[in-house]
Amino acid sequence: MSERTCLSIILAAGEGTRMKSALPKVLHPIAGLPMLAHVAKAAEAAGGEIAVVTGHGADEVEAALRAFAAGARTFRQTERLGTAHAVLSARPAIEEGHDDLLVMFGDTPLIVAEPLLAARARLAAGAAVVVMGFRTENPTGYGRLIERDGELAAIREERDCSEAERRITFSNGGLMAIDGRHALALLDAVGNGNAKGEYYLTDIVEIARDRGLKVVAEEVAFENVLGINNRVELAEAEAIWQRRKRRAMMLSGVTLVAPETVFFSHDTEIGADTLVEPNVVFGPGVRVASGAVVHAFSHLEGATVASGAQVGPYARLRPGADLWEKAKVGNFCEVKQAVVEAGAKVNHLTYIGDARVGAGANIGAGTITCNYDGFSKFFTDIGAGAFIGSNSSLVAPLRIGDGAYVASGSTVTHDVPTDALAFGRARQTTLPERGKALRERLAATKASKKTTK
Ligand code: UD1
Ligand code: MG
Repeated sequence: MSERTCLSIILAAGEGTRMKSALPKVLHPIAGLPMLAHVAKAAEAAGGEIAVVTGHGADEVEAALRAFAAGARTFRQTERLGTAHAVLSARPAIEEGHDDLLVMFGDTPLIVAEPLLAARARLAAGAAVVVMGFRTENPTGYGRLIERDGELAAIREERDCSEAERRITFSNGGLMAIDGRHALALLDAVGNGNAKGEYYLTDIVEIARDRGLKVVAEEVAFENVLGINNRVELAEAEAIWQRRKRRAMMLSGVTLVAPETVFFSHDTEIGADTLVEPNVVFGPGVRVASGAVVHAFSHLEGATVASGAQVGPYARLRPGADLWEKAKVGNFCEVKQAVVEAGAKVNHLTYIGDARVGAGANIGAGTITCNYDGFSKFFTDIGAGAFIGSNSSLVAPLRIGDGAYVASGSTVTHDVPTDALAFGRARQTTLPERGKALRERLAATKASKKTTK
């Protein structure tokens, strides 16, 4: 089948008014990636070229598309006259004469390559049209698939169903595969003489049969054809996507102690034998190597974690955080745009931003890199094996040498050379008996106020 060429047409012209959003429907994200990008990825994995039919919010959709499917061509449907009309908006691409034509919807984001490839295989085996159907307990609102002798006899929209037909649970998912040699003739034959006055893609089933062509239904899991029309369905799709991803992660060797509480992004990568504790969120752009531990309640985004490193509990890794082997970033620590080199420890209540923490360095509790003056960001360089005492403020730009030692409670504003000891705090003054005297004076003042009332 691989030598057959393929064109995927993704319909993305819909307005999606029920999303109640300024953002075009197909750009609403699932796992941090626009729905349309998920569909384009599946199309790409099924092989061949991609054409996207835009309409509502076309400029915005086309601009977004360039970021995640640069090779996709776009066509505009200026009037919304139905699904067959939308497909024909890509007429120049269809006319190129691809062997297989896949029609997908931009608001049906959970489609994956496997059922698309199965549909292409049915085309290769002689079908002219393949309709993706699913079985459901409640088919209300969907077209019913009527099969006869292993072929698809008709798609009956609900309002046209007889009593018996309405009880059919095999339903139209909307997506189709069409033999490229017949596609244009079939689509051009579709009329709009129905109740809605629209050109229905589903009409090609009957047209193909009238011409003696073979039409079949390919059964797919419902989630593959779940269409998103509002934010409730968007959340359902997100939940299904997360379930799939958790399963894939576990099967690839990642331990998830409480999988249902861990949330991934479309591009999260985690190596085998890494342990992820409950309630962890992975934002976009995270790579965790093998044998690391991400403790509970951590939030990672744009971060890289090397093997044997430990994160959390309650850690926040922001974009540019780069933890090398066996580094540790512990509870209530935030790391942004900073390298924590091998074996370095940032264990408690610390902010490390725009910095390098050298190998084996120890950052005491409550240390802050003061990287921002309200206008610009500055860099802090902490050498290998340095020790930063608790509750220190490191005012950038700043360089702390290898093996240097900063005393607790220091505010460090000048560079500290290699192996030096730096104190950046006021000297302590201790006055014997003065604590007691102060307490007595304060008590007397308070008592005199009460008597004058
Ligand atoms: C369609 C099917 C129905 C099936 C259901 C599954 C048809 C005629 N009916 O109905 O049998 O059970 O999907 O969800 O195909 N679009 C355009 N331009 C248009 C019209 C539609 O781009 O002029 C796009 C929409 O944005 C959407 C997709 O095509 O992404 C499907 O259109 P929609 O109106 O949702 O069709 P349904 O009524 O749901
Ligand atoms: Mg729909």
